[in-house]
Amino acid sequence: MADKVIIFDTTLRDGEQSPGISLDVSEKLEIAEELARLGVDYIEAGFPIASQGDFEGVQAIAGSVKGPVICGLSRTARSDIDRAWEAIEPAEKTRIHVFIATSPTHMEHKLRMTPEQVRREAGAAVAHARQYTADVEFSPEDASRSDFDFMCQVLQEAVDNGATTLNIPDTVGFAVPSEFAERIRRIRQKVSGDYTISAHCHNDLGLAVANSLAAVSAGARQVECTVNGIGERAGNAALEEIVMALDTRADYFGEGLTTSINTEELARASRIVSRLTGYPVQYNKAVVGRNAFAHESGIHQHGVLSERTTYEIMDPSVVGQGESKIVLGKHSGRHAFADTLEKMGIPIHGEALNAAFARFKELADRKVQLTEADLEAIVAEEIGGEFEHAYELSAVEAHGGTALSPNATVALRRNGEVLEAHASGDGMIDAACTAIKELTGMNGRLTDYNVTSVTGGVDALADVTLQYTSEDGLKVSGRGLSTDVVEASARAFLNAINKVARLRASGEDPDAIRRPGSLRGL
Ligand code: KIV
Ligand code: ZN
Repeated sequence: MADKVIIFDTTLRDGEQSPGISLDVSEKLEIAEELARLGVDYIEAGFPIASQGDFEGVQAIAGSVKGPVICGLSRTARSDIDRAWEAIEPAEKTRIHVFIATSPTHMEHKLRMTPEQVRREAGAAVAHARQYTADVEFSPEDASRSDFDFMCQVLQEAVDNGATTLNIPDTVGFAVPSEFAERIRRIRQKVSGDYTISAHCHNDLGLAVANSLAAVSAGARQVECTVNGIGERAGNAALEEIVMALDTRADYFGEGLTTSINTEELARASRIVSRLTGYPVQYNKAVVGRNAFAHESGIHQHGVLSERTTYEIMDPSVVGQGESKIVLGKHSGRHAFADTLEKMGIPIHGEALNAAFARFKELADRKVQLTEADLEAIVAEEIGGEFEHAYELSAVEAHGGTALSPNATVALRRNGEVLEAHASGDGMIDAACTAIKELTGMNGRLTDYNVTSVTGGVDALADVTLQYTSEDGLKVSGRGLSTDVVEASARAFLNAINKVARLRASGEDPDAIRRPGSLRGL
């Protein structure tokens, strides 16, 4: 038996049948070009009889995409087959895929045909398609709910009339792996002739890839699949998952069992299909999801930073996903935090690192994910971490709104003691700053105030920078970060006040103080 597993891509046919997807000719061409770069063996480019748009899409692909065999889908009606041929004829290599349902429910309620009519129709259609091309695939639709013996009679009829591939569709995703494998095995025993057996699995029970792989183990040498697993209802078997399972578990499936897929193109193909279909790729999607090689928990990060294979079974670069990603979030450890800063060109150590890490954990608890820009801001805020702070913010609680006069309660820690004050103001930020003034006895003026968000999105960090002039004329700046703008402002204000306290204690020149916001000199 051949060792190569033929990859029959049906993204542009079954995938395009997904609710809400409608690709125009140029979009289909763009995907088909990418499928050719990916190295699929077959592109099922569409169902030419279905619409003029489908016909034109298939014809355009047949006329320009080189490499894969171009296939058109067709029912058994002669006019369908003729139309399919007309569309694929310009291609270098062609296939016609003919299907008719063989399950009792489909024959009775949809086709309104007797089993004998279906059998004869299948044979005649395949014979008609063979007049056009030597490569004809036949599918008994809803195979997994068809009577086994009857289905085999139809398959035999198809082979006797010239079908070269017998595709077994689990049309409604009803099969389970061991049962589907058994069906494939028994078909191979029962249906005689020279044909390739293929699996076409839908994902209604989330088993499309498992069923496809079980079919391969049972002798199938073609799998029908789609990029990102798009397709009718819950979708088709995902191409990238099948390919990488065969590759990664070659020890199980057989070292010689190969596909022609250029795996480095998988991520790009996924992105292109997602962009053009408007179907997003779930973050945790196997192989091509953006989190497929991302690590957030401290234990995993430590493992991956020491040796990637501790928590990865595939190399991300092999599927076009670049490098493993260390995502900093509330589960991350110091090791990953320091490593990320190091890679960003911010090598901090000792107390400054401790202070930045503590602040990072505090913020990570409130924010889903911290970006590099967030980290840069955190480190910049903690730039004074190597100095003793006179005051530390312990808590801030502010109230405001259209009906309430703005007020805030602030708690500061000084020498282990917690001091608390309540104040009102023009707004909640003003109220918080007034409470801080009261607690610290500082009575200077805010001369400049600026708030920006570090990254976009509703959970972005507010980054407040301000200028403060003390009663005795010291001019300092302050910076504060938080997911809450009042807290960020209170932190920035306190940051400035701590500098004044330090200047007064040391008699330093304020210009000698490192400026918050600059990473130079860390
Ligand atoms: O799911 C199915 O049965 C199909 C056939 C046309 C092969 O897509
Ligand atoms: Zn299908």
